[in-house]
This record gives sequence, C-alpha cells and structure tokens, in this order.
Amino acid sequence: MISSLRGFRDILPPESDRFARIEAAAREVFGLYGYRELRIPTLELKELFVKSTGDTTDIVEKEMYAFTDGGGREIANRPEGTPGVVRAYIEHNLGQTGRNAKFFYIGSMFRAERPQAGRFREFEQIGTEHIGNPTPAADAENISMLVRLLEKTGAEGCSVELNSLGCSECRKAYRGVLLAFLRERTEKLCDPCRGRLERNPLRALDCKTDAPWLKTEAPKLPLCPACLEHFDGVQRLLGAAGITYNVNPGLVRGLDYYTRTVFEVRSAALGSQDAVAGGGRYDDLVRSMGGPAAPAVGWAMGVDRLVMLLGDKLAPDKAPKAFVIALAKEAGDKAFELLTRMRDAQISADFSDFTLSLKSQLRSADKSGASFALLIGEDELKAGTVAVKPLRGNGEQFTIPAADAPSKIKEQLKGRVD
Ligand code: HAM
Repeated sequence: MISSLRGFRDILPPESDRFARIEAAAREVFGLYGYRELRIPTLELKELFVKSTGDTTDIVEKEMYAFTDGGGREIANRPEGTPGVVRAYIEHNLGQTGRNAKFFYIGSMFRAERPQAGRFREFEQIGTEHIGNPTPAADAENISMLVRLLEKTGAEGCSVELNSLGCSECRKAYRGVLLAFLRERTEKLCDPCRGRLERNPLRALDCKTDAPWLKTEAPKLPLCPACLEHFDGVQRLLGAAGITYNVNPGLVRGLDYYTRTVFEVRSAALGSQDAVAGGGRYDDLVRSMGGPAAPAVGWAMGVDRLVMLLGDKLAPDKAPKAFVIALAKEAGDKAFELLTRMRDAQISADFSDFTLSLKSQLRSADKSGASFALLIGEDELKAGTVAVKPLRGNGEQFTIPAADAPSKIKEQLKGRVD
C-alpha cells in the first residue's frame, strides 16, 4: 500500500466542496473589484524565487522543492504566486494593455515546512496582485476586498493587522541603526538570526524566537514624510470602507520584497498557524526583476486555513434530492430513464444498484441523505407510475404518474429544508 507524502493530503468530500465554495465566493468578489484571473505555471526557474521572494527568507533558504531537470536547468515548485505574476507581467507587457493590471490566481503552492495543524507542504492560495498603482487607494482596495471576501464566506473573529515597513530609503537608514543595536546583543539572538544578521538584520523582527523581546527593546523604524503620508492615506481609506484594523509595529512579514504597507488577517481560533491571509506593497520588485518601474500591492489567503476555520458552517455535505430504486428485473431501464429525466429537470438524483434487494437499495437511499426515494416495482411498471417514499420527516408513501415525476417532485421539494 502506497500512501500520500507527509504534508501532502487528499481533500475529501465534503471538505472539497468547501474549497469550491470559497473559490466561487472569491471569483464573485474579484469580479466586483475588477480583478481578472491569471493562471501561472506551478514550476518556474528556481532563480525567479531566489531573486524575488529573497535568498535570506526561510521560504527560499530552507523550504523550496527544487530539482535539476533533464536539461540541467534548476527548477522549483512555486512556494508563492507573486513572483510568477510579476514574471508574467513583464514577459507579456501587461502594463501596456491600457487596462488595469489587476489579477487574481487560485492554486497550489509548495513549501517543505514541518507539517503541523494548519501547515501543509502543498496548500492552496487565493491571491491578488495589483501592479502599476502607487496610491493608498490600491492598498485600501486590496485590504477591504480581502475583508469583504472573508465576510462573504462567513468567517468571524478575524483581526486585520497593519504596518508600514517604509520605502527602501527609510529602510536603508534603519538597517544601519538596527544592525548596530543587534551587533551589541548577538548573544541574545537565536542561531538563524545570528547567522543572517549581516545579510538581513530586519528578519530578526519577524523571528518567532527573537521578535518578542525585540518588539519592546529594538529601535523603531522611522518613516520618511512620503511614507507617513501614504500610510495615513491607507488608514483613512480603510476607515471610509468601514474596515477595522490594528496598527501593529511588530508586523514584518517573512518575504523580502515588501515596501510600505504590510498586512495580515489573523484568527486566534486557528492556534499557532493563525495567519489566514497576508500581503503588502512591493514597489521595487517589478523593476528589480527587469521590468518597468511599476509599484504594486497584493495578498494571498491560505484556503486550507479558511476551510479549517469555517468547518461545516460553510457547506454541509450535499445530498441528492431523489434516490431512484428499481424493484423488478425489468424496471431497471425505466428507473434509469427516470433518473435522466430528473437530472434534466435540474433535480439532483442518484441510485445504487438496481439488481440489489429493496432493503439494500433503501439503505443506500437513506445513507445518501436524499429527501425522497422514487420506487419502480412491477405494479408501477405496469401502471406507468412511480411510488414516492419520503425519507425525511414522517410523510406517507404516495403514487404519481411516471411522466409527471419531475414536476411533482419539484412541487414537493418547494419550501422543504432537509
Ligand atoms: P504568505 O504570508 O507567505 O504570503 O502566505 C499567504 C498565506 O498562505 C498565509 O497567510 C497562510 O494562510 C497561507 N500559507 C502559507 N504557508 C502555508 C502552509 N505551509 N500551509 C498552509 N497555508 C499556508 C505570500 O505568499 C505572498 N505571496 C502574499 C502576497 C501577494 N504579497 C503580495 N502579494
């Protein structure tokens, strides 16, 4: 017996329905905000992620599924969607189409992290990227769209954490100040933070071990006037959209490309992996990847985590409305025809095996959760009728003409909540 890989899982019904519901809700919301779907490949050159996600991030340093292909190329399974979208934007000149470069993507991402509750090695993200708009309205639109989507799915008790990491200029000055502070305290830092101190001191602010003491002791990042104005603008517009948020100076995010606004949606109900979604602005990434100067902002939501959070509140297991049973050898063909007519009339219908006993077919009907069993036995076959047996509640069995079955069952189903 060969089982699935650790951290990779089968998503079974009814959970798979919940993924589909969230995806459908997202597509609806994105339509309202003018975001169009971009389908990007799962595999890219490894270099794309090294250069964009960042070579000092955990994602690239430790968690990439990378391999050398037959042609000697270094390939990686995408750990996130942003680099692929940026590559596609540059490769297809998407800034030149005259339309807003507002995209969404839905698909699997791969990170070789230690699996735990809410953390998988293959997980689904729904993400958005808006490239080419430098104004606070683009940030506020992204965040409020995310919140509206979460509301639409029925998620409750989530908080929006908001921060500004400043522009490259703010950060350049701050990097020196922070580095000097950390160099004097290297013995307090955990091994990984000490190891990357000179390359990327800011990552310590995002480290689970060191962030708690650094939050209170480390010097704070001062924003330049333009970054302050931008951050104020984002907050003002979020207020106008009725979005509640917490300004959280400890929010750093674990990817290298962010500038200015960063945000995360968290849910305490999820335990240690509490981030449902995260994102931010990345004004320098497109240019640094060889594209035009195109400031951008986006986010990605972990669909697995949202499904965990919502549970069966989102989509109860779907039952067919009718279950068709044949009781006589010759009735099978009529029963099959009835099934077809029911489905053609938009009534969900199912069956098990017409050659089995009444008891066995009824047991399957019951297990399916159907509202009605439709039976065709010898008598019904002769009379051209169907016996209708309500399976929920305590209604009596009754007979209807076979020709009217779809319309009669539709009538019966009206107003029923099974
Ligand atoms: P991220 O914070 O790395 O951002 O991931 C976004 C979300 O993906 C997380 O908040 C979480 O819900 C989910 N996620 C991440 N890793 C796992 C995992 N191992 N198992 C389950 N869920 C996970 C990004 O990926 C950026 N590309 C977001 C972005 C878009 N920034 C700008 N544009």
